[in-house]
Amino acid sequence: MYDFTPQPGLSKPELYTELLEAACAITDGEPDGVANMANCAALLAEFLPDLNWAGFYRMVDGMLVLGPFAGRPACIRIAPGQGVCGAAAATGETQLVPDVHAFPGHIACDAASRSELVVPVKRNGAVIAVIDLDSPLLARFDAEDATGIEALAAALADRI
Ligand code: SME
Repeated sequence: MYDFTPQPGLSKPELYTELLEAACAITDGEPDGVANMANCAALLAEFLPDLNWAGFYRMVDGMLVLGPFAGRPACIRIAPGQGVCGAAAATGETQLVPDVHAFPGHIACDAASRSELVVPVKRNGAVIAVIDLDSPLLARFDAEDATGIEALAAALADRI
């Protein structure tokens, strides 16, 4: 059994440090990217409060295709440039969206989602996946969340 439950009372940077350590430990030496994304999606859902969706889209033949996640069933294919995930894939830049209703082209997979953070995972400069977090709260994500998920994306680049 794995028990990576975060300690109570951690600051947000401390929480992300623990999350990163857990993700590195559980993916260490495991070559199967699907298994690693699945465990990391579960860790994201367990560590981070106030999420309604956490998971991966993978770049497959020029399209983002749904990968392992925790949350409600989601749209399967997203073209680069489409929605928040597609914007992250097309630009290679983190997308921090405080109000998804104000984001042109946002794709509503779960009507409960109000804010979103999408971070590209890059290998050798190319976007190979994105990590997508959704929250039912407005402005749930800030720069500390972006920094934390960017560190996770960098650590996973050779493990998914
Ligand atoms: N809202 C995303 C689509 C993916 S779901 O949130 C899981 C977007 O606009 O790209």
